[in-house]
Amino acid sequence: MIKFDAKRKIFELSNKEYSYYFSINKLGYLIHLYSGKKLNDITLERVNERYIERYAYLENNKEVCDESYYFSEQGCLFECGSYLKSDARRPFVIIKHSNGSEITSFKYYSHQILSLNVSPKDLPHFRVSSSDAETLLVTLKDEVDEIYLDLYYTIFKDLNVIVRFSKLKNLSTKEIKLKRLCSLELDSVNKDFELISVHGQRGDDRELEKIPVNHNLTVVNDNHGGRGFRQNPSILIKEKDANYDFGEVYICSLLYSGNFKFEVGLDEYDSFRLNALINDDCFEFSIKSGESFETPECVLAYSSEGINKATQTMHDLVRDYLLPKEFAKKERPILINSWEPFLFNFDTEKIKNLILEAKTLGIKEVVLDDGRFGKRNNDQSSLGDWDVNLDKINLGEVIDFAHKNDMLFGLWVEPEMISPDSELFKTHPEYALYDRNYKPTLLRHQLVLDLTNPEVVDYIFAKLSNIFDKYKIDYCKWDFNRYLSEISSLYLGDEKQSEIFHRFILGAYKLLNKFVERYPKILLETCASGGGRFDLGMLYFSPQIWGSDETNPFSRVMIQFATNIFYPLSTIGAHVSASNSLSMQDKIIIAAFGTFGYELDPSKLTDEEKKTILSLNKIIKDYHHIVTRGDYYVLKSPYETNFASWMCVSKDKKEALVFNFNFKREQTKARFIRLKGLDPDKYYFNSLTNDVYKGDFYMNIGINISAPLKEGMTMLFVVKQVNSIVKTVLNSKAQKEKREKLL
Ligand code: DGJ
Repeated sequence: MIKFDAKRKIFELSNKEYSYYFSINKLGYLIHLYSGKKLNDITLERVNERYIERYAYLENNKEVCDESYYFSEQGCLFECGSYLKSDARRPFVIIKHSNGSEITSFKYYSHQILSLNVSPKDLPHFRVSSSDAETLLVTLKDEVDEIYLDLYYTIFKDLNVIVRFSKLKNLSTKEIKLKRLCSLELDSVNKDFELISVHGQRGDDRELEKIPVNHNLTVVNDNHGGRGFRQNPSILIKEKDANYDFGEVYICSLLYSGNFKFEVGLDEYDSFRLNALINDDCFEFSIKSGESFETPECVLAYSSEGINKATQTMHDLVRDYLLPKEFAKKERPILINSWEPFLFNFDTEKIKNLILEAKTLGIKEVVLDDGRFGKRNNDQSSLGDWDVNLDKINLGEVIDFAHKNDMLFGLWVEPEMISPDSELFKTHPEYALYDRNYKPTLLRHQLVLDLTNPEVVDYIFAKLSNIFDKYKIDYCKWDFNRYLSEISSLYLGDEKQSEIFHRFILGAYKLLNKFVERYPKILLETCASGGGRFDLGMLYFSPQIWGSDETNPFSRVMIQFATNIFYPLSTIGAHVSASNSLSMQDKIIIAAFGTFGYELDPSKLTDEEKKTILSLNKIIKDYHHIVTRGDYYVLKSPYETNFASWMCVSKDKKEALVFNFNFKREQTKARFIRLKGLDPDKYYFNSLTNDVYKGDFYMNIGINISAPLKEGMTMLFVVKQVNSIVKTVLNSKAQKEKREKLL
């Protein structure tokens, strides 16, 4: 997959469908040559000299490369852009040298093709084996000082993906300040790209936003300590004309839950540059002699066949190489959560009743949410005092009761937080991360713990272990309900305050790591006031993240649609609530395309609703493997049409689950759902019209769902391969009534 042509000094990273080329130019700079559809035969140095480096020679009006020319970096495509030299674009790295200079420029020093995959040490990373991917390490050296920069490129054999990260090593005798270091830079000639980013707020957790890539720098970022509501650390870059099925598309995503930044834009020569990095606002790291700094990994997933293929690549990558192996491809139990029905108002009997009621509906797991510790009867106290409030609930009894009733048991925690009104704050105020000179913004009456301090990490882990060692808990919901503001760490001292954001998330990862190492069998779900921290970093630890506190189906469809583009459906916690904006059936169908559960009081359900739950729970049980492991296709986008329509197809193409939702009522229009991803030559039965057609019929003509469609009408149906004998029988009149029984 990785080759180095020593004569031409060209690196080639290629798999069956994707190629990435760069070279070392005569002055030692890494010149980006190409990223895109697999190239079989091209004289790359011609591309390099005549085209990509063309602008570099303009200064001397030279057409031919010659070592004596004046090299200007303007408009050149690089792998690692410099700072305060002739390249005015955003740089790859900025170092404040010991003499105060910030000029930063790195040149080729050495390279290796590694037999073992290497990952950043203290950060989440892909779990890659050498048979599935290869890694290239290119080491660069600062033009002046003994400072080295390792660039890692891992290319996958069967996925059009390159994962990159970088490591800066200070081998000089002096301390330096690292002011910025990218995980990835992608330079390209202008292909009329546009950017799709994801922004949101609690309740509208993720919405897509499309922006043209132009000569103004566009920044997608978070600077509040990893509350990815504002913007999400995954973006999509596509050719303007590309759509779900055609055209060049990249998905770029950071494995990072802290402050991040993507910068995208064109320069004055129309050269495109994308940078992905830990946000360099409020970031300055001291790197002493002999020390190093590693960035998070960053994914670049490529598709020459539109957004759907890029999405499928991301889904496969995350399921195969990122999620904890134990749960990655496993269907999750249908759960019921105490939060929406009871909030803080529960006791032993209430939870036992919830278990009994839920059991009759085929639910397999009960989760006791916030409120069972300290004196926490509202959100104003006790975070940090993790011991169980035995006066409120007999936790052991409830857990035994759940297990006896064949249900798993889950518990809520919010380990990274501290309430000012808590025993922990009384004894250890220094554990809180806030600046004593400013009045802290007490979001949800709470402060964030100083996880830059290893003592705090150990303390909280010991408190959690007391509970998780003692009780037989099967599932843990790990919440994070505020962002970081007015932060200051007593532990880090004056010199290192600009390291807090990154050190905080390193501390959080350390805590999560300890937890998953000690409790590998516990199914972990992370959460942040809903889906406020939905990123690949968290998915390394928790195979699912609570999608949103918004369970209103109209909004949910939009949130799930946006999330699905980047993250596998099995990672998105999706529950049915008591919201009466749609029928029980409609709500279940929408939630069925995530990790499925309920947040309602079953004792308040009507008999009709219970019947619906029972029958749909069965369909979910029987077909959820397609959602968990299949290929996802967008059929219609709610950003462009009146429909949110998608489907999941099993990898063997034998079964598919199709979803369709229309926002506005339609009285007159002719509508067909055209399916994707089926085998064109095989027969399929569909449970919407109970007919059997060939795959090419479904994909080219489609299923007629014409009006009338009432507002917010949801459709869920199964498409199943059948052989031609079954097809003849099924299409016979006599079998008409029996068809439904196939499901
Ligand atoms: C925010 C979460 O999103 C909710 O589901 C719930 O767990 C509350 N926190 C509890 O405080």
